[in-house]
Amino acid sequence: MSTAHDAPTSDPPFHLRCVECGGDWPGLALRSRCDCGGTLDVVHAFPDPPSRALLDARLGSKQPLDRSGVWRYRELILPVEPEFVATRREGNTGLYDAPRVATYVGLDALSLKHEGENPTGSFKDRGMTAGVTMARKLGMTRVACASTGNTSASMAAYAAAAGLEALVFIPEGKIAYGKLSQALAYGARTLQIEGDFDAAMKLVQAVCDDEGVYLLNSINPFRIEGQKAIGFEILQDLDWRAPDWIVLPGGNLGNSSALAKGLGELRALGLIDRLPRIAVVQAAGANPLYTAWRAARDLVPVRAQTIATAIQIGDPVSWRKCLRGLAETDGVVTEVDDQAIVDAKAQVDAAGIGAEPASCATVAGLKRLVAEGVIAPDAHVVGVLTGHLLKDPDVVVHYHQGTLAGLRSTFANAPVRVRGELDEVRRLLRAGRAPR
Ligand code: F0G
Repeated sequence: MSTAHDAPTSDPPFHLRCVECGGDWPGLALRSRCDCGGTLDVVHAFPDPPSRALLDARLGSKQPLDRSGVWRYRELILPVEPEFVATRREGNTGLYDAPRVATYVGLDALSLKHEGENPTGSFKDRGMTAGVTMARKLGMTRVACASTGNTSASMAAYAAAAGLEALVFIPEGKIAYGKLSQALAYGARTLQIEGDFDAAMKLVQAVCDDEGVYLLNSINPFRIEGQKAIGFEILQDLDWRAPDWIVLPGGNLGNSSALAKGLGELRALGLIDRLPRIAVVQAAGANPLYTAWRAARDLVPVRAQTIATAIQIGDPVSWRKCLRGLAETDGVVTEVDDQAIVDAKAQVDAAGIGAEPASCATVAGLKRLVAEGVIAPDAHVVGVLTGHLLKDPDVVVHYHQGTLAGLRSTFANAPVRVRGELDEVRRLLRAGRAPR
């Protein structure tokens, strides 16, 4: 394992800049906020940007870094010595044509980028590979995060693989079992905090400052750099032709901030010639960005409540970066209620693609934006599904059994009780099945 003493002393080709006051900090400064309290961006010098041809050639390479859907774009993400890189070949996720889901939302065609196909089942692995790599480069031995579940699952896995100690703070009773099991299984020290994600987020920042632990929430600017690769990979999947829209769910707002930053950099470097518009979808019960964007004012935190526990966040850390990215991409924000989320999820699942509830806010939001005329039916749209279906099996089983408190099971596929006899099964099969 390398330590800080091994790190080269020359300045890296990037530095940190405060989003609030514009103050600059060294690229390897050990901080996740400016002295003024603002969040930080990584500003790259890009001394050696790759061409499209080089990035495309790497798709056929057998080198471990080229095979990662994050490190393939390394010059644009984190120029760092390869020995520090902690990779599990993240990214390389499917971009699926989803005609059935397109019909459901009112589009002629729809592509879904399934980030649930990452090694720990969510898009978080793209940011985490960069964050854990930076922890190693800085010689840190302990890492921590607060999480609604996926960040903790991802951090626990990458930290374990890199030999770092992991400490996770989760809101007790408010994260899905698939995610809690991952944090425990990968050996993270798991603290269940009374209160919500926003309380856990405040606590972990204080603990990290106090104890010299490396903070790996998306407030860490290097996490954001890794997450930019979602956009890079979508554009590469599309042969570098920008779609009209990219739609994704918003919680702590790191992912949408990263997408906008990365696309802006691609355009500035001439790798694409126009920017897609970004649509961020929030759950109606966790909608502070939606409210702030509509009123064109600063974000006011709310107390969050939604069945999509991954995005049950009332005080998102990266809201200013997100609003900036929306302004730069002529983006929009919408909100959808829990009924719309679970019904959209049933459609995504029944298409054979499947995703967790928060991911399906993407599809519910698309349906609303098409109905309102914001997105044209013939637009070229990519929707991002952020997490795997098996992250939250409880919601699936309760939905299909009609036992989700306060919600209808519009597209239920309830299990059928049957005696284990051939005649009875035959009778059942001949009776047919209602269309879903
Ligand atoms: N979808 C899923 C499945 C998520 O887990 C999250 C965030 C989001 C969407 C929203 O992304 O926060 O970048 O706006 N989950 C975090 C976590 C907060 O702790 O796992 P965001």
